[in-house]
Amino acid sequence: MKIAVIAALKAEADLIKQAMGEPLEEKVGPVSFSVGKLGENDVVCAVCGVGKVWAAICAQAAILHYAPDVVINTGVAGTLSDSLSIGDVAVSSSVCHHDFDTTALGDAPGAVTVPGADGALIPADVKAAEKIARIAEDEGVHAVIGTIASGDQFISEAAKKEWIASTFGAIACEMEGASIGHVCAANGVPFCVVRAISDSADGGAPDDFPSFVRSSAEASSRVVIRFIKETK
Ligand code: ADE
Repeated sequence: MKIAVIAALKAEADLIKQAMGEPLEEKVGPVSFSVGKLGENDVVCAVCGVGKVWAAICAQAAILHYAPDVVINTGVAGTLSDSLSIGDVAVSSSVCHHDFDTTALGDAPGAVTVPGADGALIPADVKAAEKIARIAEDEGVHAVIGTIASGDQFISEAAKKEWIASTFGAIACEMEGASIGHVCAANGVPFCVVRAISDSADGGAPDDFPSFVRSSAEASSRVVIRFIKETK
């Protein structure tokens, strides 16, 4: 298998690259990929930068240049669910763009024209999600499978958090996953978003995030590394 791993921040990719030993560094357009192996699988790993446009650029570059069988987005997220606390892991059954808004034209919030999408929800690889959630639980990390919502905003207000959770039934929020899922769906490539919770996505988030970003990023990476090693 060939697996592409995309993270927004260096801290979210460090453990993956370490686990790859001494990967080759290759530049594709503006994106730097680390190219190597994890277990039996060929892996390319990139730090895409924060936000949906960088994530889309990276996902499309990965797909055109490396033709991965699956794309995994690893990193951290704010929680939208009482079932997910800091350090727990959210795994995507679907993703959505919470900031995509053509409601003035009569559309539902977040509704996108993407192959396979149901309104706002872009389906992820559910088999991969189930396997990743099982691995997380096996590692002693609580995991919940559900919709992960993305937008070009760091969510730090209770009212906005509640709106995203209730409008999309989403369990976690971040800034890249839907964009990566959108590109993958457009190209017919399976994907899964794996995000360990770094913050509460409300007024406490600006303090939580810097305290927990590294430990949560590493928790997500550990689960993804095991998933890749155990995938054939
Ligand atoms: N990534 C981690 N926490 C986040 C938050 N609260 N909002 C958006 N992206 C995040």
